[in-house]
Parts: sequence; C-alpha cells; structure tokens
Amino acid sequence: MSTATATRAPLLVYFSSVSGNTARFVEKLGLRAARIPLHSTDEPLEIDEPFVLVTPTYGGGQGRGEEKGAVPRQVIRFLNDERNRRLIRGVISAGNTNFGEHFCLAGEIISRKCDVPHLYRLELFGTPEDVDRVSEGLERWWKLQ
Ligand SMILES: Cc1cc2nc3c(=O)[nH]c(=O)nc-3n(C[C@H](O)[C@H](O)[C@H](O)COP(=O)(O)O)c2cc1C
Repeated sequence: MSTATATRAPLLVYFSSVSGNTARFVEKLGLRAARIPLHSTDEPLEIDEPFVLVTPTYGGGQGRGEEKGAVPRQVIRFLNDERNRRLIRGVISAGNTNFGEHFCLAGEIISRKCDVPHLYRLELFGTPEDVDRVSEGLERWWKLQ
C-alpha cells in the first residue's frame, strides 16, 4: 500500500439489514463509509481502496456446516468479487451475546477466510465506549498499515 493511501482516513465498508443496528454504529463513528446493498437486484458495490469491513452476524447458529450461515449473503456476494476481497484489511463484527458461542461468528469466519485481523466485536449498535474504542483504535491501527 502506498504511503498516501495509508495516511488517509480509514474507509469502512459495512452491511446492515433493515433493523439498521450496524448502520447506526457506523454513523456514530463518523468515518468515510460505503454500504453493501441489501437486495440482490441492487447494483453491486465495488471498492477500489483498502477498507475495514463491518458486518453483523446472522444465522443464529442454525445454518448448515461449521459456519452456520453466519455471514450475511450480501457480504459473501461482496467478498466473492476478487477486486473487493483483495482490499480488505480487517473486520469488525456485530452481534448479540444471546447467541452464545455464535456471538459475532461472522467476524471470525471472515478473518480466517480472508486472512485479516478480527479487530473488534460489539453488540447491536454499540455503546458509547465501543464508539470511542473503535474510533481511537482504528485511526492508530490504520496508520500502521
Ligand atoms: C435471525 C437473526 C439471527 C441472528 N444470529 C446471530 C448470531 O448467530 N450471532 C450473533 O452474534 N448475532 C446474531 N443476531 C443478532 C444480529 O447480529 C444483531 O441484531 C445485529 O445488530 C443486526 O445488525 P443490523 O441491524 O445492522 O442488520 C441475529 C439476529 C437475527 C434477527
């Protein structure tokens, strides 16, 4: 990555369903952000600079296989595009601790598959402390990339 890219503010790419929790969290961070579309009929999102992915976890542990359908299909579609996948630098996941061992499973799966760090886990739309920790941590970490 060029120095010019590394010194720019981090770009967040996020998915949020109609409940909008992840969108609320991302808005509170106040960083540059691009949203992965909800519907398969929407124009697919294509990214041309390094980014951190923010994704909720779905599936509730009910899907098939080890991964239990935890990564939203819209996020899978976005990452299946090699041009997007090669630019992911880290993942932040959201979920609900009611799902026990499947809490934020989407972040673990994406971290493993894309070989990037799982930077943070938060519940629902995050607390003010989550917002502070992610803002500070992300700015610092991004400059080191
Ligand atoms: C059907 C359903 C399944 C869910 N499964 C999980 C899960 O397996 N693990 C988890 O941590 N959270 C799970 N959640 C919680 C969501 O990740 C959480 O509500 C999140 O904030 C939703 O983000 P969004 O409103 O941006 O789509 C589930 C929620 C729903 C409605």
